Amino acid sequence: MRQIHICEVGPRDGLQNAHHLMPTEAKKAWIAAMAAAGIEEIEVGSFVPPKLIPAMADTGEIVSFALTLKDLKVVALAPNVKGFERAVASGAHKVTFPVSASRAHSMANVRMTPEQMVEEVRKCVQLRGKAGPEIEAGVSTAFGCTMQGVVPEDDVVRLAVMLVDAGVDCVALADTVGYANPAQIRRLFKKVKAEIGGKLEAAHLHDTRGLGLANALAAYEEGVRHFDSSMGGLGGCPFAPGASGNVITEDLVFMFESMGASTGVNLEKLMEARKLMVAAIPEEPVYGHMALAGLPKGFRAAA
Ligand code: COA
Ligand code: ZN
Repeated sequence: MRQIHICEVGPRDGLQNAHHLMPTEAKKAWIAAMAAAGIEEIEVGSFVPPKLIPAMADTGEIVSFALTLKDLKVVALAPNVKGFERAVASGAHKVTFPVSASRAHSMANVRMTPEQMVEEVRKCVQLRGKAGPEIEAGVSTAFGCTMQGVVPEDDVVRLAVMLVDAGVDCVALADTVGYANPAQIRRLFKKVKAEIGGKLEAAHLHDTRGLGLANALAAYEEGVRHFDSSMGGLGGCPFAPGASGNVITEDLVFMFESMGASTGVNLEKLMEARKLMVAAIPEEPVYGHMALAGLPKGFRAAA
């Protein structure tokens, strides 16, 4: 049984920031290979204006394809009501909204203040009624922002509370620009959990300053069991200067599996999926210690 839940965000967070477009058919093959490796949840794209992020223009088609894969939870990002309506029409199981704690990043990313964005999310919750997709709010720049600098922890707590009040199913804390350290992760997850309890679900971490895995472990020790990560360490927000890749899925799986915490992911199959990704965007820089070093002799996955 899975003890750790990984949401692969490479097809969204990764490809939105990549210098090379991945053809639609290659995206499908890559997503299918990751699902076959046991990844249970994949954020396959975003419903944003195609002119703004051309790499996400085929998200509708990608969601339709991903819905045919057995046991896969299909997630898409939406930045506003229009994106949410497109996501609902696509049949995605879950929709995630980026809600920045930094005012500067919020304006640059979604052209709304954090408070306006909460109201946008509230409208989507109301639109959804009973049968719609699960709604997650990711609190972006929760640990600092390249434009604003320090993001007060109280702002993050207040935003998380407002989002729960708006009716979201779950909240994630996102280190969009890779500023967090493990002590900060523990402190902020603890503070937010004290206010919203079990609605605080995932950690969305970036490895910009090499602390991705250390931060994931700190979040784990704080009780977090849901993690976003990206194959090959692709990733970054095009509207947050200096943002780079997410914590690397292959390395995250290795860390948890070798600790005895099951992710449900088969590492050999995951490395096969990585080959498809690399072949589809061969000039894109990719990262990962597992890919360089391979599995240790005698490695045993968690039971
Ligand atoms: N999908 C498709 N088209 C959309 C859309 C969506 N989700 N939202 C708006 N549009 C269209 C509008 O219909 C309008 O089209 P028109 O010019 O043909 O009339 C145009 O885009 C501008 O709409 P507007 O509501 O004024 O949006 P904006 O230009 O103020 O941009 C967002 C606001 C939220 C759409 C945009 O900032 C955005 O997509 N941000 C997300 C960026 C992102 O993905 N960041 C990375 C993830 S963290
Ligand atoms: Zn991110």
